[in-house]
Amino acid sequence: MTTPVDGGRRSVPPILRGQRALVTGANSGIGRATAIALGRAGADVVVNYVFGSDAAEEVVAEIRSFGVRAYAHEADVSQEDQVVAMVARMVAEFGTIDVMVANAGLQRDAAVTEMTLAQWQKVLDVNLTGQFLCAREAAKEFIRRGVVPEVSRSAGKIVCMSSVHQIIPWAGHVNYASSKGGVLMLMQTLAQELAPRGIRVNAVAPGAIRTPINTSAWDTPEAEADLLRLIPYRRVGDPQDIADAVTVLASDLMDYVVGTTLYVDGGMTLFPGFATGG
Ligand code: BGC
Repeated sequence: MTTPVDGGRRSVPPILRGQRALVTGANSGIGRATAIALGRAGADVVVNYVFGSDAAEEVVAEIRSFGVRAYAHEADVSQEDQVVAMVARMVAEFGTIDVMVANAGLQRDAAVTEMTLAQWQKVLDVNLTGQFLCAREAAKEFIRRGVVPEVSRSAGKIVCMSSVHQIIPWAGHVNYASSKGGVLMLMQTLAQELAPRGIRVNAVAPGAIRTPINTSAWDTPEAEADLLRLIPYRRVGDPQDIADAVTVLASDLMDYVVGTTLYVDGGMTLFPGFATGG
């Protein structure tokens, strides 16, 4: 049976019913679509954002329309005290956390000879240190609470939002590619360390997705044509493509998946330059 699609208001099975999820950077792009998808699948959702409370409140309203709980929480994921307070509030309001989606990320692009230390540091702070802090705080609560079989087979799930650039070098983006390479090892090491506690840590690695982070890569026909050369499936991804992957990965349908990266990239990691020649 195929899932009915009606203008984005798709009916999906409640595979996260009774679970509580936090999505960082959830007021735009991939984070927004993911927060909504988790709510549609039955989870209560905390919508983290750092700038843009109106957009965050819109996401909250959409999630509540599914009959689940949601609220917006402003916090900079690179600031330890803010992440600690964010997870503590969630435990106070929702009772606990079952799914942490460490999604917040940014780019500050420059040729290496032009890249300032501030540009380097900002990207590492948000994309890598932010994921470490979010994973750490979630793991503490997962371990405290343990498995509740009526809710999920696992004690908790951490989904790290990575990128194809965790393995594809990217000239002009050394800060970003280094941060995502770090996310790969962060994810694998945490997966190894936390699996014995019943916690599943995995990553989703998007390719080129139509979001504000990369508008210049697809917003003109020329740019899009260039981009499509890098995508064997010949389609730029939508945030929904990633949101669906995160939802299934966080659910018990994927309970035996531990320490894996799910590439959702239309084949970008298949070395498309070698489709001919080589
Ligand atoms: C980057 C985008 C880029 C894509 C594919 C993502 O991780 O954020 O800017 O278009 O990778 O290169």
